Amino acid sequence: MGLWGGRFTGQTSDLFKEFNDSLPVDYRMAEQDIIGSVAWSRALASVNVLTADEQQKLEAALNALLAEVQADPKVILQSDAEDIHSWVEGKLIDAVGDLGKKLHTGRSRNDQVATDLKLWCRKQGEELSELLAALIDALVTLAEREQDTVLPGYTHLQRAQPVTFAHWCLAYVEMFERDKQRLANALELMNASPLGCGALAGTAYAIDREALAQDLGFARATRNSLDSVSDRDHVLELLSVASISSVHLSRMAEDIIFYNTGEAGFLEMGDEVTSGSSLMPQKKNPDAMELIRGKAGRVVGSLTGMMVTMKALPLAYNKDMQEDKEGLFDTVDTWSICLKMAILCIESIKVNKERTYQAAQQGYSNATELADYLVAKGIPFREAHHIVGRAVVGAIAANKPLEDMPIAELKTFSDQIEDDVYQHLTIEACLEKRVAKGGTSKEQVKAALAAYKK
Ligand code: ARG
Repeated sequence: MGLWGGRFTGQTSDLFKEFNDSLPVDYRMAEQDIIGSVAWSRALASVNVLTADEQQKLEAALNALLAEVQADPKVILQSDAEDIHSWVEGKLIDAVGDLGKKLHTGRSRNDQVATDLKLWCRKQGEELSELLAALIDALVTLAEREQDTVLPGYTHLQRAQPVTFAHWCLAYVEMFERDKQRLANALELMNASPLGCGALAGTAYAIDREALAQDLGFARATRNSLDSVSDRDHVLELLSVASISSVHLSRMAEDIIFYNTGEAGFLEMGDEVTSGSSLMPQKKNPDAMELIRGKAGRVVGSLTGMMVTMKALPLAYNKDMQEDKEGLFDTVDTWSICLKMAILCIESIKVNKERTYQAAQQGYSNATELADYLVAKGIPFREAHHIVGRAVVGAIAANKPLEDMPIAELKTFSDQIEDDVYQHLTIEACLEKRVAKGGTSKEQVKAALAAYKK
């Protein structure tokens, strides 16, 4: 006797079965399906559909099944059940006989799958939040170590103004902090139990859905049964948080790939996260970072895929929605391994302070300082900007940094330039001037580090 066999006399085709079955994907929700089923059996007992004794028998059998699947989730894949819900029900009937057939009273796979998936999202979300915290820790540790390391800051990939390496680290800390917050917001919004909404119209048993929600660790029960079984916002949100975070990871990866080039030589990544070439013995490739950069594409693709699957779906449940899991599971796995990999890479980084300092000295990244110097002497900024632009052209022609130009030469651009100009042109002066909140001065970076450590 199948799940829905009574209405049918003919056989389903093998191709349809293969096409329709979701067990190969949703077997990963076995734990959640069993936990949800235990809670449902208690709800049924509360409205006298099950006796206390029957409920206890079901709960014991479900717990035994839980231990079984936790020991080896892949055994599920040997079954030809349609999905994880029918697999659990089938196993229960195998274990306790006809009593097992009572469990699905008043429940539909529609509220069941919605509940399972939310429970799954919550569990994964909590793990991902811990991984984000660990990545933030790794970046804060690197920032602490590299507080005095000067790094050229770029705009348009042109050297712009010097910053510290710590300041760079803390920029990514900000992004991953926001991801963590976004994830927490998403988890809070999805913290409502759809169980007890039936197929679409609600369940015909007077179950206390709030108590049932509490039993499953949800903050509350959902409010509308039609919405409850057809809502996949939590999937979209998790995919969206993962996509934004993967974009952050890919930007960090790109910076590191660039810093690691022979041309830049700002840092070296550890042997444990790099690979060699089969042909060119000198190579040490930043594969881990390139994969992080690349995998972001697949994550964003899953978000797009699910958005388009949900678009214009009529209420309530439609089988289209079964497509929600493959992309979500893959995204969660991908995001999670990328975070782990990023932590390992960050921990392995060795910064070459001399190279970053030299690079920050080149590229006229103290030109703004010269303009500010002229402003202090009473020249309006726009005019100062123009004067310094001409001075930079002169310095390029002389093949020298601004600070190596003799005073007589500098004076040809403005007679306001005096001997005291040189102290403003050092990298240290450039850095120390950025004292307003969020700037790269030592004081500000220290304050930021202290705040993260709290
Ligand atoms: N395997 C299905 C899914 O993942 C379970 C829900 C089936 N509901 C239905 N009405 N056919 O969406």
